Amino acid sequence: MDYAIALERVSKSFGKRQVVRDLSLNVRRGKITGFLGPNGSGKTTSMRIMGGLLKPDSGGGSCFGYNIRSQRGRIKPLVGFMTQKFSLWEPLTVRENLLFLARLHAIADPQRRVSQLLEAFSLTGFADALAAHLSGGWQQRVSLAACMLHSPQLILLDEPTAGVDPHARREFWRVLHALAQQGITILVSTHFMDEAERCHELAWIAGGSLLASGTADTIIAAQGLATWAIRGPALSDIEYRLSLSQSVEQTSIYSNTLYITCPQSSPVESLLGGLPRSYRIEKAATSLEDAFAHLMKKGPLP
Ligand SMILES: Nc1ncnc2c1ncn2[C@@H]1O[C@H](COP(=O)(O)OP(=O)(O)O)[C@@H](O)[C@H]1O
Ligand SMILES: [Mg+2]
Repeated sequence: MDYAIALERVSKSFGKRQVVRDLSLNVRRGKITGFLGPNGSGKTTSMRIMGGLLKPDSGGGSCFGYNIRSQRGRIKPLVGFMTQKFSLWEPLTVRENLLFLARLHAIADPQRRVSQLLEAFSLTGFADALAAHLSGGWQQRVSLAACMLHSPQLILLDEPTAGVDPHARREFWRVLHALAQQGITILVSTHFMDEAERCHELAWIAGGSLLASGTADTIIAAQGLATWAIRGPALSDIEYRLSLSQSVEQTSIYSNTLYITCPQSSPVESLLGGLPRSYRIEKAATSLEDAFAHLMKKGPLP
């Protein structure tokens, strides 16, 4: 089977509030899938359902072939979770933290498994450091090692890089790609577009419904958008003028360039033709961020 997770029309409510709506989603085996969506869109809840921690109200699906409704006990050992607010015991060393968790999970030969993980995650040099003394980036790496203690086939990472500096984020992504190469399936929720671009596949939800899924390139191409880069004086005035046009869907200034994004079908060339000749106008690539902003306007898939 090509998919580690297959959800079919899953819904979940808390009280009167429907948090996941008719969600169908496949997560490819051995790949990194980015899970995107605004706060409160149901990412954490869906991840808990996928990993067998929470039963959906309706709909179903499988995780490594096990039914997410009736075989949750079989799923849990195959899944590692790293939650949004990962926490280590600060008065314990890195090794003691991992040993404690290894014993909690009744892992055979905990000393050996912990040494293996310290090695695999380049943590050996920090083994005897107190968790409290580690930077956010290293704490995050210890937490990732902790969620690998029981050798899961799938790891669900819930906004693992929130509050971590850019260098540590890059290192973290290097580790994720190494794990995927070993065949581990990874689903990672994030708000960072640069992280989304590092994923093999993406799924975007809003209001508990799927808005898009696939590779970044296919999602961008499917939106039928065109983007232009404009360089010249007083870009912020030009941005304002262009944003008044019905044809222009999004505008943004990066450094000395104004980008405008429009539906491919809109008559934007004539609009841009009206700009003074001192402006340089070139076609540019539509970004993932543009595609997602467009999707948010368009709403859920039919
Ligand atoms: N156990 C729960 N009980 C009641 N409401 C919940 C519970 N878990 C989540 N919610 C609500 O469900 C909505 C979606 O939450 P969540 O799945 O955490 O979204 P996300 O991870 O995308 O931010 C939020 O409004 C949240 O407050
Ligand atoms: Mg969440």
